[in-house]
Amino acid sequence: MPAPAVAAERAAELRAELERHNHAYYVLDAPTIPDAEYDKLFRELQGLEAESPELLTADSPTQRVGGKPLKEFPPRRHGVPMLSLNNAFEPAEVEAFDKRVRDGLETIAAVDYAVEPKFDGLAISLTYENGVFTCGATRGDGVTGEEVTPNLRTVRNIPLRLQGEGWPALIEVRGEVLMFKADFAELNARQRDRGDKEFANPRNAAAGSLRQLDSKITASRPLSFFAYGVGAGADALAVRTHGELMDKLAAWGFPVAAERAVVSGSHGQLAYFAKIGSLRPSLPYDIDGVVYKVNRLDWQARLGFVSRAPRFAIAHKFPAEEALTVVEAIDIQVGRTGAITPVARLKPVFVGGVTVTNATLHNEDEVRRKDVRVGDTVIVRRAGDVIPEVVAIVPEKRPKRDLFGDEPLHPPFHLPKVCPVCGSAVARGIDEAIARCTGGLYCPAQRKQALWHYAARRAMDIEGLGDKIVDQLVDAGLVHTPADLYGLSVETLAGLDRMGEKSAQNLVAAIDQSRQTTLARFIFALGIRNVGEATARDLARYFGNLDGIIAADIEALQQVPDVGPIVAASIVAFFSESHNREIIAQLVAAGLRWTEGEPADAGPKSLAGKTLVLTGTLPTLKRDDAKAMIEATGGKVAGSVSKKTDFVVAGEEAGSKLEKALELGVPVIDEAELLKLLEKGVQE
Ligand code: IVH
Repeated sequence: MPAPAVAAERAAELRAELERHNHAYYVLDAPTIPDAEYDKLFRELQGLEAESPELLTADSPTQRVGGKPLKEFPPRRHGVPMLSLNNAFEPAEVEAFDKRVRDGLETIAAVDYAVEPKFDGLAISLTYENGVFTCGATRGDGVTGEEVTPNLRTVRNIPLRLQGEGWPALIEVRGEVLMFKADFAELNARQRDRGDKEFANPRNAAAGSLRQLDSKITASRPLSFFAYGVGAGADALAVRTHGELMDKLAAWGFPVAAERAVVSGSHGQLAYFAKIGSLRPSLPYDIDGVVYKVNRLDWQARLGFVSRAPRFAIAHKFPAEEALTVVEAIDIQVGRTGAITPVARLKPVFVGGVTVTNATLHNEDEVRRKDVRVGDTVIVRRAGDVIPEVVAIVPEKRPKRDLFGDEPLHPPFHLPKVCPVCGSAVARGIDEAIARCTGGLYCPAQRKQALWHYAARRAMDIEGLGDKIVDQLVDAGLVHTPADLYGLSVETLAGLDRMGEKSAQNLVAAIDQSRQTTLARFIFALGIRNVGEATARDLARYFGNLDGIIAADIEALQQVPDVGPIVAASIVAFFSESHNREIIAQLVAAGLRWTEGEPADAGPKSLAGKTLVLTGTLPTLKRDDAKAMIEATGGKVAGSVSKKTDFVVAGEEAGSKLEKALELGVPVIDEAELLKLLEKGVQE
């Protein structure tokens, strides 16, 4: 055993070193040593502490794994109360806030605001005494919270000891505990594998994890922290502005939002709101708005507080992405390829900025797992332009058969055995999540959607052949397959609802025009399962003509870049169906002609094998056009930046993707350089 003084010195050294690596890894996202090295140092410290328990300190990184379970959380009175913020939803409310601030400060000049994301987690206060983390508590009622110190020690990016210098003897650091979206997905996958309950969203997962009496459980949950302010101890800091305060917190080792900024006036606030709104889907954590704070701390003090909210700050919130509503019915939708999707019909609810009346339930297993039933109160989520979905039910609100029993009013949901549209059997393959109607084009639902797809802008581009017209044509038995479209007369069409003579003429002209197309469009228009626009283009380019594709077997098809066994099997299955070959023959007989694709080895392939990521607004090219141009020369456009990205094309207001590129050392180019690459190719 080493001499006590030597051991104590070594333990202190190890604590400091381990926390430095921890900070580099969890706060700076820039690991300094391999995991195995870290583990070795960690075990050495554990060994010393086991031999001489008096060496164990509260700020030892070994305490991050959790300790003995508690019986309850002790109450904790905050040194300075934890306030809430007033909310704004509309630009006018933000302008009114800015005006109140200027009136309060008796200035007409534009005021500077520190602006940052509003983290969607739980408010926390962390107390440091002489630089050591000694106590952490939830907000509670703002005056008294619950002490959850052992749990907070397990949060890897909360410093157990402050770095640098200049901190007061006692300081309360305020911020939010949350769970990153990726960590949440991983945690839920783990819960599912173990048969444990899944969490509805990262916020609930963070709350549930922090309120564990057994801190070992908290330690197994991937929580993170962001600091956004200071309670007690703020007066002792030599800073002039909130921005400087955040810089100081960062220097002491706290994670702070990388997106924080200082803007001028309500114009600056609204521009920041728009920018963060567009970054929101790509941020690694959930936010529910942005927070504006008067930047100068002396001005903050002058403005003071009204009741329990500051006059110097406001939260500008996004429309809520989740809301509660009631399931009025569960219907079945039949997709173009026969996919049977259960859909919840909802009592209309305003969520994610729109009124939602339907939400997808995805498939039978999902409905079963979530146990969604008619009459249930559910959490509905709509984020961005994503399809609304039912996240979870609220079990307590399930209607009961009678007042005193537990028996639910409605039985569990079951998928029908036959297609509700055509009565054909519903089948589900082994290992398949989706059940399908086996009726194929016999099923009017599938026939209608096959026709919508055929006529779509990016397929055969038949303007004027909308959903309503297709529905009527199929219902009246006038059209069974796309080939029937080419025999439609102006008189027949003019007889339909919402169709005048003139629009019937236009539609016949549009159908006629669609006779001349490209091979890629035609393949896409056929609606082969798993063959999207890009695959259709690849097939056209590789084979050069339709006969080649029809003749190809699974092996041959897999020679096409990006075509795997599943896509290849779908293509073979489609063309081995005699009915499909017949329709193609009828289409050719109706005068359909296409320009054939380029053979695989012809033409310039300047970006073949390269992966590019587009970010920001390019000066002249629309994003879709840039993408099409890159793909036309054999390149790929990816949605996110990784080490495998060859180039990031950045335009105006490029955001986190640009940052990521710079961080990973991926070359960043502008539109002019992209155009040069498209023309000349990459000089290897
Ligand atoms: S400042 C004196 N900044 O929003 C004002 N709060 O309604 C103190 N929140 O529960 C709050 N992100 O936990 C501030 N960047 C941020 C925030 C933030 C989230 C939460 C906070 C509080 C709520 C206020």
